[in-house]
Amino acid sequence: MTTVIDGNEIADRIRADVSDCAARLSEEGVNPGLATVLMSDDGASETYVSMKQRACEETGIRGIHQELDPDEPAEVLLNRIDELNDDPTVHGILVQMPVPDHVDSRAVLERIDPAKDVDGFHPENVGRLVAGDARFKPCTPHGVQKLLESAGVDPEGKDAVVVGRSDIVGKPMANLLIQKTAGGNATTTVCHSRTDDLAAKTREADLVVAAAGVPEMITGDMLSEGCTVVDVGVNRVDADTEKGYELVGDVEFESAKGKADAITPVPGGVGPMTIAMLMYNTVKAASLQSG
Ligand code: GUN
Repeated sequence: MTTVIDGNEIADRIRADVSDCAARLSEEGVNPGLATVLMSDDGASETYVSMKQRACEETGIRGIHQELDPDEPAEVLLNRIDELNDDPTVHGILVQMPVPDHVDSRAVLERIDPAKDVDGFHPENVGRLVAGDARFKPCTPHGVQKLLESAGVDPEGKDAVVVGRSDIVGKPMANLLIQKTAGGNATTTVCHSRTDDLAAKTREADLVVAAAGVPEMITGDMLSEGCTVVDVGVNRVDADTEKGYELVGDVEFESAKGKADAITPVPGGVGPMTIAMLMYNTVKAASLQSG
């Protein structure tokens, strides 16, 4: 029997713990605060940000949401980040990516105070992660680690294949999987759009983390019997539904489920974990800044 890993249930447990920590900090006079900044008209980005703000409310974190017109010059966003950096009631800052083309995303990430960078995308925090001394682990790969731990899948000694090399998921995921600490110690291969024979790599894997952003690209015939499959993909594909689309992962669920011992669904797998780990990082930021 294949285990379908329930991300909602695991995320709820983490959020309950985070909520307790937030309440304890508040009693000490520090109410954790997360600022989200959206500079985009993209419907998916709007949805993600509103989910993050709702999670703040439910966790006892003060959510501050700001929206900027996507036509504004980059300077307006950078000035807004400066204000949030200087605001002692704001402990975490998240600028939803992607930003408009005329805004240099690197300049944006570098402008955020590394102590408030709850995404873990600032070069200082990326460096700490690679050095094995992470301050804020990026939320999605950290969520994958927690999912695996809860499902009783230990990557140690396993052959892991990460499909995708994004700064947000693929690269930090690979870095976490090769760490010498719990949740790491996997022999890790990173595949991407220029990989010659992807199926040959994934067929060798005990653990596949699919994060390429290509709908249903990983099919059952590309997997080994008994592997673990984590699907990070969230792709909107046209469908005859009320919204006109449906969400599918990077994995073709039914055929993959036929091969895997454990698999995450979309939705209800990695997605809720990303938000739970953002709440975790925000409370951690507040705690570090108050102590
Ligand atoms: N866009 C897609 N995923 C993320 C994320 O984890 N953080 C931010 N800031 N933007 C994103």
